Amino acid sequence: MQIVKHINELQAILDNKRQEGLSIGFVPTMGALHAGHLSLVEKAGQQSGFVVASIFVNPTQFNDKGDLERYPRDLQKDVDLLEPTSCQLIFAPEADEIYPEPDTRQFNFGNLEQVMEGKFRPGHFNGVAQVVSRLFEIVQPDKAFFGLKDFQQLAIINEMVRKLELPVEIVPCPIVRETDGLAMSSRNMLLSKEQRLNAVLISATLFEATNKTGELNVEELTYWVINRINENEYLNTEYFEIVNSMTLQPIKSWNDPCLKVGCIAVQCGKIRLIDNVKIDN
Ligand code: PAF
Repeated sequence: MQIVKHINELQAILDNKRQEGLSIGFVPTMGALHAGHLSLVEKAGQQSGFVVASIFVNPTQFNDKGDLERYPRDLQKDVDLLEPTSCQLIFAPEADEIYPEPDTRQFNFGNLEQVMEGKFRPGHFNGVAQVVSRLFEIVQPDKAFFGLKDFQQLAIINEMVRKLELPVEIVPCPIVRETDGLAMSSRNMLLSKEQRLNAVLISATLFEATNKTGELNVEELTYWVINRINENEYLNTEYFEIVNSMTLQPIKSWNDPCLKVGCIAVQCGKIRLIDNVKIDN
């Protein structure tokens, strides 16, 4: 497995691979890898001739400086985790390689970015769009693989690809969970032992909520989820919304003819965790 820090070197290698007739699968990450990332790499390996993973903690998508500073970084550990996988190249650039000049582009994702993460993390999705479009420009992948845990991010990236008419297929990949149900996240490793034990209530509540659509209406179920989580002294819900999976707008009734997803963000001390679950009714 090669580790490359510079764009020109990366592009020379990828040009060769394309000439050999191999398709390029791309897994963008911010490092601090876990089994969720490895599942994206595995899928990329099944669907591509040559797999590239990027490791870059993108400063422009952090609206909270403390969050950026706390974000776990351990390149050697990430390399060791990727070594036995189908990843053939790691692109680990410095910030000035990605942003030789400050990226001042402003994206407009309309209603998709007005809700949930967009509301609570102003500027976050603009930063995500900046870095992902830049990485796509550099790597020019045939397919790129993203986890469904970041449900709204996936919708934003699909919209960005559509708007910019980028020739890349976005492949959504299922959420990978710890054995107790907590959605895997690089931020989980920042939780104290007590926080980690209590954080399981987030997924447990979401799963239980999926069985309550017969007895509670949308508003009642929303309050039920928030109250149940907030009763725990370690957890504080930032938002829980049941949304239309395409528009991301909150639904009002179970009769809304759309695929419904319950999306949540919870503060566990200083650590912010997100998760989501499909709600059938
Ligand atoms: O989901 C992430 O890890 C990041 O938002 C991404 C897509 C790698 C962009 O920095």
